[in-house]
Amino acid sequence: MTCLVTGATGNVGSLVTQRLIDRGDRPCVFVRDPKKARDLFGDRVEIRVGDLADISSALSGIREIFLLNSGPDLEVRDRAAALAAKAAGVRHLVKLSTLDVSTGVGTGPWHARGEHALRESGVRFTFIRSSAFMSNALSWAHTIKREGVLRTSTGNGKIAFIHPADIADVAVKALTTRAHDGEALVITGPQALSYGEMASRIGAAIGKTIRFEQISDDDARPNFDRAYADALVDIWRAIREGRLATVTDGVEQVLGRRPVTFDQWAEENAGAFRRSGTTRGKRGRSARPPPSLTRPK
Ligand SMILES: NC(=O)c1ccc[n+]([C@@H]2O[C@H](COP(=O)([O-])OP(=O)(O)OC[C@H]3O[C@@H](n4cnc5c(N)ncnc54)[C@H](OP(=O)(O)O)[C@@H]3O)[C@@H](O)[C@H]2O)c1
Repeated sequence: MTCLVTGATGNVGSLVTQRLIDRGDRPCVFVRDPKKARDLFGDRVEIRVGDLADISSALSGIREIFLLNSGPDLEVRDRAAALAAKAAGVRHLVKLSTLDVSTGVGTGPWHARGEHALRESGVRFTFIRSSAFMSNALSWAHTIKREGVLRTSTGNGKIAFIHPADIADVAVKALTTRAHDGEALVITGPQALSYGEMASRIGAAIGKTIRFEQISDDDARPNFDRAYADALVDIWRAIREGRLATVTDGVEQVLGRRPVTFDQWAEENAGAFRRSGTTRGKRGRSARPPPSLTRPK
């Protein structure tokens, strides 16, 4: 197979790419910045350069696509990619989506429209409906390092964050077998935790007490792109109201093993929460703030 990985310089896409390399494949990565891709993967990938607005020029010889699109208008890019894939004879498209397609919260409606566009195109698909990523917690590093505190508007509400490595493993299974064609895989971490509980677990990983402080939606609201800030506030409110505490056995169903725990993720990324130093996670990525929480998508 030749697989094209979009979002290959990002959180999940880079792990998908690395796993394909580890299997002995030489995947194609679709990137805007070839140097970034070369720095990450050396010559173990074929680099195709372009913008997600139009991937049609990158599809020669491609049988599978890992598709990652973001933002309120992601439907436009999902549809264009699906139609281009169909025309180029691509066999299968695996879309990173969100569990919130079913709750209608946050970015759920954006991805629901994207999924609909893929279904309409007639291309064979798998949707990965993931819960929120454990790596989102890297955005807490600043106040944890500086003040030993995590502030959110989520109250005692719980959510089952998932390790990005689990998402990548599920994606690679969907890309490299036909076992999940036509399915929407709803995957979460193993346990729903409150933000206070996650703060304690990070504290345990770094040997420090981390306090949790409840703040208002207004105070929590990020200071960037309005649609994305609205989506985040919507998610945090839904968590507070106990509407996003879903735990599924999706990872186990697909991979035959339990998903990685938040404690494990906190241990791997402890360096990001200490006053100095960084750590390299056992799953092959150094800790860095998730772009998804540092700039609008
Ligand atoms: N964070 C969560 O909790 C969560 C939960 C469920 C679903 N999701 C979904 O997961 C996806 C985000 O995944 P992620 O965190 O792995 O992404 P990420 O780390 O933010 O990376 C985004 C990737 O897309 C690339 N990219 C962005 N715009 C592009 C463009 N116009 N043309 C070409 N490449 C472009 C970026 O390339 P550059 O390196 O050039 O910027 C980067 O490789 C979104 O669809 C989001 O809705 C997120």
